[in-house]
Amino acid sequence: MTQNKIVYQELETRIICVFFISNRISNEQGECKNEDGQPFRGILFSGKDKDKEDRIMRVYETDRLRLRELDDTFAETVLRYYEKNRDFLQKWEADRQEHFFTLEYQANRLRQDLELAKAGNLLKLWLFRKDAGDEAPAIGCISFSHIIRGIFQSCILGYKLDQEEIKKGYITEALKKGIGIIFNEYRLHRIEAPIMPKNKASIRVVKKLGFECEGIAKKMLKVNGKWEDHIRWVLLNDQV
Ligand SMILES: CC(C)(COP(=O)(O)OP(=O)(O)OC[C@H]1O[C@@H](n2cnc3c(N)ncnc32)[C@H](O)[C@@H]1OP(=O)(O)O)[C@@H](O)C(=O)NCCC(=O)NCCS
Repeated sequence: MTQNKIVYQELETRIICVFFISNRISNEQGECKNEDGQPFRGILFSGKDKDKEDRIMRVYETDRLRLRELDDTFAETVLRYYEKNRDFLQKWEADRQEHFFTLEYQANRLRQDLELAKAGNLLKLWLFRKDAGDEAPAIGCISFSHIIRGIFQSCILGYKLDQEEIKKGYITEALKKGIGIIFNEYRLHRIEAPIMPKNKASIRVVKKLGFECEGIAKKMLKVNGKWEDHIRWVLLNDQV
């Protein structure tokens, strides 16, 4: 039995509540809406695991994709994604040590991500093709990290796809949704995407989404073991 099936069956025997988040935009009945004006759908995990109580696992949809927060029960799904795309991602990401490609590491990371999400510092959504059904592998993720409130109201954008799924517009589709959530639900003012000048596909993605170039940040991030200059691409929300 696959890990996903086990998770779903476990969920069926436990209490699954679809409910409305109290800190979202309320309508007259006191219900809450997401950025599309639809009731926000989330899953409340209850039961054995104290840490998961009251944790809403966000799930969103676009035409072709399901965008989901994942907990540590999806470590295998995420590990499979990273193993499959190890060579493809190497050029664009931090130098990965061997322990990165273990279930234990990925489970820990998913737990940390949920903690950050709970604290309001991160929105990370894994991408699944809707046409691939319940057993769909993850085809990438988008993340809005380092969310800072106060006078900043800003975050850093990251994203990646499965090499077999590039050039089909999936990341642009997912990011349109993610940006809507970050601007309209989280009410952030600034999204910043640091991109290496040689990453032409990524630059094209942010340009299509309306980001503007604010200049070069010298040796900003250590990518594949080397400090690399990055162009700061920025999208501002004029509604906040
Ligand atoms: C960056 C990434 C997510 C883009 O995915 P994608 O599926 O190609 O994205 P989209 O199809 O939505 O859009 C890509 C656009 O760039 C264009 N493009 C792709 N490769 C290109 C290249 N080498 N030079 C110029 N343009 C390119 C495509 O034609 C498309 O533009 P169009 O819609 O006007 O035709 C994907 O390449 C990836 O996962 N890369 C590795 C991780 C990464 O770099 N993450 C971003 C770090 S900043």
